[in-house]
Amino acid sequence: MKIDILTLFPGMFKGIFNESIIKRARAAKKLKINIHNLRDWSRDKHKKADDKPYGGGCGMVMSAQPVFEAVKDLRSQVKSQKSKVILLSPQGKKLDQKLAQKLSKNKHIILICGHYEGVDWRVRQVLINEEISIGDYILTGGEIPAMVLVDTVARLIPGVLGHKDSNKEESFSAGLLEYPQYTRPAVYKGFKVPQVLLSGNHNKIRQWRTKQAKKITLQKRPDLIQ
Ligand SMILES: C[S@@+](CC[C@H](N)C(=O)[O-])C[C@H]1O[C@@H](n2cnc3c(N)ncnc32)[C@H](O)[C@@H]1O
Repeated sequence: MKIDILTLFPGMFKGIFNESIIKRARAAKKLKINIHNLRDWSRDKHKKADDKPYGGGCGMVMSAQPVFEAVKDLRSQVKSQKSKVILLSPQGKKLDQKLAQKLSKNKHIILICGHYEGVDWRVRQVLINEEISIGDYILTGGEIPAMVLVDTVARLIPGVLGHKDSNKEESFSAGLLEYPQYTRPAVYKGFKVPQVLLSGNHNKIRQWRTKQAKKITLQKRPDLIQ
């Protein structure tokens, strides 16, 4: 999968995709991530990419022109022409595991990070395929939402996680929260690891985990079961 990220603040992405699982996925060519500065497409002589809002009001609005031209360029670089253009926006569909799974099937995603008061409305009208929110709160920009989206989608790409079943048993994948996990030592500060996990009986372990997952989901997120 190829992901192009359009932002006014490329420096915010330093580090985040160069660590851990995402770093390995990039090195193994399972995932290509490019961070682009929207100002590079600005036709303004000072490389301005925002302006005052029509009708008045505080703050600045990101201009349509650099976004339109950037998306056109990035689309043309992909042979299949099947690019998904996503605007990170508090007005969008809320990101969850199901949506992440759907997104992980795309070959090319372009993420547009809004900033300031947001992006000229014509970007929504003409350019984008989907608007995605990471929750009902307002952040200063779409950069952190883009990082969240990339992180959750990347780990669903086949071959990115070490074990092919790693994301099948975790929270939300099967409609339940995950069962308790333990590692060595078997006793720590007097707290013991449940005996069944030390038994080596895989059937019993599976049953115990399913029971625990249901119990925890009922306690913490009964809405997931309903
Ligand atoms: C300060 S916000 C703009 C908020 C906008 N004036 C409004 O009231 O909806 C700037 C940018 O941050 C991003 N953003 C903020 N909150 C977000 C959220 N919950 N999910 C996704 N993107 C968000 C969007 O790209 C947005 O254009």
